[in-house]
Order: sequence, then structure tokens, then C-alpha cells
Amino acid sequence: MNEKNIVGELAADFVKDGMVVGLGTGSTVYFTLMKLGALVEAGLSIQGIPTSVQTAELAKKLQIPLASMDEVKKIDIAIDGADEFDSNLNLIKGGGGALVREKIVAKAAEKFIVVADPSKMVKTLGAFPLPVEVVPFGAVQTENYIRELQGKTKLRQTNGMPFQTDNGNFIIDCSFPSIIKPQELESILNNIPGVVDNGLFVGMADMVITIDPGHKPVLLEREKQ
Ligand code: A5P
Repeated sequence: MNEKNIVGELAADFVKDGMVVGLGTGSTVYFTLMKLGALVEAGLSIQGIPTSVQTAELAKKLQIPLASMDEVKKIDIAIDGADEFDSNLNLIKGGGGALVREKIVAKAAEKFIVVADPSKMVKTLGAFPLPVEVVPFGAVQTENYIRELQGKTKLRQTNGMPFQTDNGNFIIDCSFPSIIKPQELESILNNIPGVVDNGLFVGMADMVITIDPGHKPVLLEREKQ
């Protein structure tokens, strides 16, 4: 079993009968979904809240019952991947472009669990370009404002066209090589007109499930404030 498969499956152990479950996006949480699909087939009863069209499609194939954010009173647990995590369990997310819905779901969840292979662990966030979702209107101007923060920027493209999120927006990938104050940068970016949200998830993850070099599970928990 590869690393993503191991950590992805481990997270499914935290899902109990009757729970409303935030379903993340990406190649690691894919394995959580596969496991949940098997558990549902064996009789587990859950409702999933997908964080992307891609995840909704996979969940439907696996016959995991789905609901929308507005149909549920609360989310018991959300499980998602990350592009980077630090020792405070702060994250960079959005490599797959689903960061806005992912953050909405993570925030609404009583427990937010991140599944990440050890390559995602960093001392300081920022080697992975920070995805920022912006509305298409005035995107060039929005990108200029971001650049004024001394970050290098790149409009994400697919097949020569701007990549479009599930919300119909663009993604600007920003290189801030060393993000010493993630909370500060998160709110500065979100104060720029045209920015919908960015991939910094600060103080949100309750647990990161990863593995050590011997492939033993490592559960990192955030210290309660
Ligand atoms: C999706 O937008 C992202 O936030 C993913 O959760 C993140 O990129 C991790 O993806 P992988 O598990 O595929 O590395």
C-alpha cells in the first residue's frame, strides 16, 4: 500500500454511524472515500458533504449518500488532504483548486482531520505556491495587488485557458517562499477586493494523520487553545 493509501484509509476509522461527513478533494482523501464507500456498502449510514464536483461524482459512484451544506444542521467531521502542513497544523491547500468549498466545510465541522503523506510536512509554509481564488472580473488588477505583497504570481491555466474553479472563479498561484505569519497573510490576502479566499488554513485542523519512515501511523493533534 502506498503512503497516500495508508493515511487516507486511516481517517475512515474516525467516521461513525449516523455522522455527517465533509468529503475533501484530492488524491489522498480519494482513499478515504474508497474506504467509506466500502463501509457504506457494508451498512454504515452517513451523509457526505462534497467539497468539489469531482468528489461528488466519486461519492455518487461509490453510493455514499450526499447532502448539501444548507441541508444539514452541522458537520460532525471533515476529512481532507493538504499540500503542506507545519508543526502547528497550519496548512496550505488548494492544489486541486477546491479551497473555497474546502474551507467552508472545514470551518463548519466539529472535527477537521487532514490526511497527508510525510512529503507534505514542512518547517515553514510556502514552498508550495499558495493558491488564491479570485473572481474573473478585474483578475489582472487583483493579481497586481497580490504582487505588491512581494509574492510571485501565476494565473493557473489548463490547455492555455484560465483554470476555472467549481465556483466559476480563477486561481492565482502565489510564491511566498517563507510564510512566517500565516494568519496575517491569510487576512491581508482576503482583504484585497476580488479575492474570494486563499489556501492558508490557520488554526483549523484538529488532527493530521501521516506516517513515519517505517510506515507506522502518526496522529498529530493540535493543542487546544
Ligand atoms: C484540493 O483543492 C486540495 O486542497 C487538496 O486537498 C490538496 O491539494 C491535497 O491533494 P493531494 O492529496 O492530491 O495531494
